[in-house]
Amino acid sequence: MHHADIKTLPQEEDQLFRLLRQLDLMPDGSQRAMATALNISLGRLNTLLRGATDAGFVRLSERNSTDKRQRVAYTLTLRGAAEKLRLTDHFLTRKFAEYDALHAELTGTTSGLTPFKHRTKLMQNNLAPIPELYVSYDSAQKMKMEAADLTSHDLSPRQICDLELLMNGGFNPLKGFLGEEDYNGVVENMRLADGSLWPMPITLDVTEDFAGSIELGQDIALRDQEGVILATMTVTDRWEPNKANEADKVFGADDDAHPAVNYLHNQAGKIYLGGPVTGIQQPMHYDFRGRRDTPNELRAYFRKMGWRKVVAFQTRNPLHRAHQELTFRAAKEAQANLLIHPVVGLTKPGDVDHFTRVRCYEAVLDKYPQSTTTMSLLNLAMRMAGPREAVWHGLIRANHGCTHFIVGRDHAGPGNNSKGEDFYGPYDAQDLYRANQSEIGCEMVDFKHMVWVAERAQYEAIDEIKDKDDVTILNISGTELRRRLAEGLEIPEWFSFPEVVKELRRTKPPRSKQGFTVFFTGFSGSGKSTIANALMVKLMEMGGRPVTLLDGDIVRKNLSSELGFSKEHRDLNIRRIGYVASEITKNGGIAICAPIAPYATTRRAVREDVEAFGAFVEIHVATSIEECEKRDRKGLYKLAREGKIKEFTGISDPYDVPTNPELSVETENVDVDNCAHQVLLKLESMGLIAAE
Ligand code: PPS
Repeated sequence: MHHADIKTLPQEEDQLFRLLRQLDLMPDGSQRAMATALNISLGRLNTLLRGATDAGFVRLSERNSTDKRQRVAYTLTLRGAAEKLRLTDHFLTRKFAEYDALHAELTGTTSGLTPFKHRTKLMQNNLAPIPELYVSYDSAQKMKMEAADLTSHDLSPRQICDLELLMNGGFNPLKGFLGEEDYNGVVENMRLADGSLWPMPITLDVTEDFAGSIELGQDIALRDQEGVILATMTVTDRWEPNKANEADKVFGADDDAHPAVNYLHNQAGKIYLGGPVTGIQQPMHYDFRGRRDTPNELRAYFRKMGWRKVVAFQTRNPLHRAHQELTFRAAKEAQANLLIHPVVGLTKPGDVDHFTRVRCYEAVLDKYPQSTTTMSLLNLAMRMAGPREAVWHGLIRANHGCTHFIVGRDHAGPGNNSKGEDFYGPYDAQDLYRANQSEIGCEMVDFKHMVWVAERAQYEAIDEIKDKDDVTILNISGTELRRRLAEGLEIPEWFSFPEVVKELRRTKPPRSKQGFTVFFTGFSGSGKSTIANALMVKLMEMGGRPVTLLDGDIVRKNLSSELGFSKEHRDLNIRRIGYVASEITKNGGIAICAPIAPYATTRRAVREDVEAFGAFVEIHVATSIEECEKRDRKGLYKLAREGKIKEFTGISDPYDVPTNPELSVETENVDVDNCAHQVLLKLESMGLIAAE
């Protein structure tokens, strides 16, 4: 920027900007050199420096020098760097506004220029660059060094996804994690404090301890799981959210069966921090790098290809023929090009992993005309929030340069609630989207439910078939497909592409060839270990898969020898067991676990870890506490009654009885062999063991 231009800024702001820029360019310059560069007196420079130091933009440090005047050095702080950027933006905004006004005066029309600093020529709105939160490469290098000294927060996988989309403009207009006022507006009526539409709370949840160690106004470093600093955040807000209310308003019910509500209550920290984010670098991805695009990269691609209209298809599932047909139709209807935009961040627990999916997408992409269709991966952490999620997805797609968005039946549906009913109506998402469409800036193309009409050997939209009674209508639901894959049954050619089916079969062999976990839970002395041992022997006799027994006592000796029986320690113990079991399951083995595992939330967490890779079979060994105490095989109950063992499950520590185990076995008057046999029958009925 040239000096003469800056003169149009108010003098104060102008001088502050020039000071910050000077410090950025020449951090070691003498005061005299600085004053000369800024064309001000030494006295004025000192006043400016004092002001900037007080505001936290500049830091004073000592340096070794014999020259008395050179003994102190001023350096730019992180906040100073951010302020410099802000002032630059401010300046450009004003300049563009002035230009717009001049243009209007001279021509009587609007210039079409909006005050974004990147904008250099007239562009269609959806194709012009949008603001990002990143600083320049050089500033990032400097900030990285400085941020090393800041208090850091280690981001969770979901927070990393959120941060990436905040920084690259995917969550535009958000400038950071939500502050309290914005949060309240979003939760209550889907609006930020300034009135703009935003349906999803993007919050930085942290532990109470961490929140307590921060002062408002402080900058913190946000690190990925390897410790790399991705961004800094100035903490402007800190509050304890009403999570039950958030669950109700945002997800429709305070019910842990909803994955995002479960996350909110059982994984998210108690306190939220909010404030503007300054982006240093993108989260690192090692997989499918060429297939990932920021909003600005996609916009640039559309510009280059001359695509004025683009319809986006959001998906977390493999694409089959019906999807191809509906995306074709959507594109035709909107007279637009097609962006297949699958989510590869976090999707619904139990979904096909994204590695497999991307291989499937790549296979299907060949079936689309190359010049009209492209595919890009979106690192979004979905919340499965149905209607609100659809609106959110639309805003995100608008940010990615799309003009149209496909919304289907039960868009981003979370599955059943704890009563076995749907959380949302099948068309709630379409309704909410339609009501907010003009603000979303991305027009809805509603999903046609496509079915195969056997006689005509083609896909047709179900609501357009006139001769329903005279033709054979075929369809395979997601659940049915999973069943066929799990049981190794045929998947017809009319349903999917052979390449896709091959990929799916490769990662999802039939259940009888997959790994799984049997998880016994019950009081001490209930008979868990005995049944588990009997089961192990029976499974080994059958052969085919390696079997590992993670018995309570064995684990406490080998994995958890330092742990006691407090809630924290028990949780840690069970999470370790869950981790090992999930790894065994992933690698095709059978893990048999037999700890007490008294807490339902921890058991659920383990279930989720394991179900990412295979079946989780929870078995409640339902021996009553009276019977266990009567048996007292290890003499521990006596000691517990005498108070010699504290926090003893069932005596002086709680046990949450499983509400929905795959199987519950009684052990009173039943021999062990029979109990183990009941388990085998269960495994067989679940398709986990089968005759060769
Ligand atoms: S937990 O809660 O799941 O972590 O417990 P677990 O690892 O299964 O360990 C249970 C065994 O430890 C012995 N033990 C106790 N159990 C419960 N409460 C207290 N305070 C306690 N202190 C020691 C007990 O022998 C348990 O044995 P089994 O019979 O294997 O359950």
